[in-house]
Amino acid sequence: MKTQSPPNNSLSRRTPYHFKHQVQPLTAVNRVVVPPMASATADSHGFVTTATVAHYRRLAESGAGIVFVEYSYVHSSGRSEAQQLAIDSDNKLPGLSEIARAIHAAGARAGIQLVHAGGKSTTELTSGPLLAPSPIAVPAKDRAFEVPAEMSTEQVALYQKWFVESAGRAERAGFDIVELHAAHGYGLNQWLSPLTNQRSDRYGDGHQGRARMLVEILGQIRATCGVGQLLAVRLPGQEHSHGGLSPSDVAGLVRELEHARLVDLIDVSSGLGGWRRPEGRVGEGYLVPDAAKLKRTTALPVIGVGGIESGEYIDHALSQGWLDFAAIGRAILKDPAAWRAGVLP
Ligand SMILES: Cc1cc2nc3c(=O)[nH]c(=O)nc-3n(C[C@H](O)[C@H](O)[C@H](O)COP(=O)(O)O)c2cc1C
Repeated sequence: MKTQSPPNNSLSRRTPYHFKHQVQPLTAVNRVVVPPMASATADSHGFVTTATVAHYRRLAESGAGIVFVEYSYVHSSGRSEAQQLAIDSDNKLPGLSEIARAIHAAGARAGIQLVHAGGKSTTELTSGPLLAPSPIAVPAKDRAFEVPAEMSTEQVALYQKWFVESAGRAERAGFDIVELHAAHGYGLNQWLSPLTNQRSDRYGDGHQGRARMLVEILGQIRATCGVGQLLAVRLPGQEHSHGGLSPSDVAGLVRELEHARLVDLIDVSSGLGGWRRPEGRVGEGYLVPDAAKLKRTTALPVIGVGGIESGEYIDHALSQGWLDFAAIGRAILKDPAAWRAGVLP
């Protein structure tokens, strides 16, 4: 466990970040991140439309150093919305490349989030059984999910291949960062959480078993993708539900990923309950305490999120060492150019 660093008042929202874990240097011009946010602008087969490109061109007007493209499904068995973006086949590359170019043209680094929704999908959307670690419906307050099918060993190998091939596509489309979505109750989160993974084979049964799916996918991506690409994971800082992932479970996982050099960036959000404000968390940065806790245990750069709006809050969080990047979702979505004028002029 590392000791906490003293406040560093020279850090601010405008300080560039130089990623160290890369053979090729990669810099983000500032500490502001647009997190992945589903835009529902894709066509019904997951192709980028002109509305999708316009949407990301607009988000990049925020001046953020990194703009993430929304959760994009790696296979049609893992889609969770009718207008969701896909990265499941090579014919998606021209559209995705256009988004990456639009983000780069604004001076930002381009990231894209890969997802398989698993038990958070619907059989109506997938036209087949929902693929998950165990036949357990994803617990949620606001809706009842279907009971998914437990994946066989053959399906596990396919599932890994979908992620690895999609990461390769992200690189070919020109994205600087590939993020695996292992938060908000989606597929990879279901593998990590003791509430949804109750397998007794090597992909379940204890922390290491439950982490194995994520670790193996990252390892395969590292082995096959280029050195210029950064790998990020969106993780729950903890699951705010009884019996779910604890902060120390997540710290242990991040330690494992860091020691094996499997990731370059940790994006800290929430787990099975979804990304919204947990009860009792008030003010800006409602999930930042979880990011800050994790940051004390790792040398990897950390993104914090949750209701952040103001430049003052970002500067304070950076100077306190709570995070390395602040993700601003809804405040930027509302009016990217106005947000920039107020916070990053
Ligand atoms: C419209 C919308 C779509 C979202 N889609 C995603 C997504 O695709 N992937 C993801 O990890 N989080 C998604 N989120 C969560 C955001 O990335 C972010 O964590 C959340 O909005 C909290 O940040 P904020 O308070 O700054 O908006 C979405 C949020 C919104 C508002």
